[in-house]
Amino acid sequence: MAEELQKWVLMVTAQTPTNIAVIKYWGKRDETLILPVNDSISVTLDPEHLCTTTTVSVSPAFDQDRMWLNGKEISLSGGRFQSCLREIRSRATDVHDKEKGIKITKKDWEKLNVHIASYNNFPTAAGLASSAAGFACLVFALAKLMNAKEDHSQLSAIARRGSGSACRSLYGGFVKWIMGKDEKGTDSLAVQLADEKHWDELVIVIAVVSSQQKETSSTTGMRDTVETSLLLQHRAKEVVPKRILKMEEAIKNRDFASFAQLACTDSNQFHAVCLDTCPPIFYMNDTSHRIISLVEKWNRAAGTPQVAYTFDAGPNAVLIARNRETAALLVQKLLFCFPPKSDADLNSFVLGDKSILKDAG
Ligand code: DP6
Repeated sequence: MAEELQKWVLMVTAQTPTNIAVIKYWGKRDETLILPVNDSISVTLDPEHLCTTTTVSVSPAFDQDRMWLNGKEISLSGGRFQSCLREIRSRATDVHDKEKGIKITKKDWEKLNVHIASYNNFPTAAGLASSAAGFACLVFALAKLMNAKEDHSQLSAIARRGSGSACRSLYGGFVKWIMGKDEKGTDSLAVQLADEKHWDELVIVIAVVSSQQKETSSTTGMRDTVETSLLLQHRAKEVVPKRILKMEEAIKNRDFASFAQLACTDSNQFHAVCLDTCPPIFYMNDTSHRIISLVEKWNRAAGTPQVAYTFDAGPNAVLIARNRETAALLVQKLLFCFPPKSDADLNSFVLGDKSILKDAG
């Protein structure tokens, strides 16, 4: 690289929404490559409300790779960041920015360091899949910066090395993470089942029961589950394969009754598997249980499901209403049963295509 180019900075910004699994990923068969024990299916949320924005920049003036999350510097020494960086760097190609007069060759990328600044517009590590949006966004932005010519599925396999669920955030709409058979992980990647326009009358309401960081991270939790739970083996081998096929059918046919039944049952089985772990893991709390009861009673009284619920590794409820009218009714019921504690909570309450209800607890 010529000396006169030492002062330049090249940057790319990307925005990636989070995704919520309706058939859960829980358990790895390979911890380093992040290969799951079963397929999973998710819905990618509207980027307006739950997303990560990441800016990656490169300059000859940077003396090391560095990263900031929500304005605070974090260590990049973890194997997961290093895997994603290494994989994208190895695919980097020549970049020529004519306007700025910058030319970076494939060889230059090996020596150049990057700076990464990432922001979540929702609580980090509170069971709202922040790592999913985070790693998907990081991999996407780095690939753009380094001109790595991979398609979304191949990028999803790289994002998977950052956090399993991240591979599903490379696509909008309904997404399946295929567990794959290859022990090197080349076929463990995400595919889009249907795009964001498909079944767009569904409305997702998130009740933030707690924005505290969870006690047991997904990574630690699922490691303990794999080591100790017999129920997980039954789930991965016998239950999920059949459920995946049924869920794909329900999504294709916009069959809300089947969709809701499958999503709720799968969420409950995931939390049962957590209880079957030694020591047991409790992600849901009393408020989560009360929200489940509210939905179950309503669905039973209506004679057909109106709302589906699903809970990730935390107490926050992700509620999927069959349409906007039902979502409005759901929000009324939630407000009645879990009155907001302050005006600030009410102000942060949004009713739109994808809504967020703060502090239901
Ligand atoms: C309950 O993807 O966060 O949200 O691969 O160890 O980073 P790691 O775990 P992560 O686990 C997500 C678990 C889940 C279910 C899901 O998203 O499928």
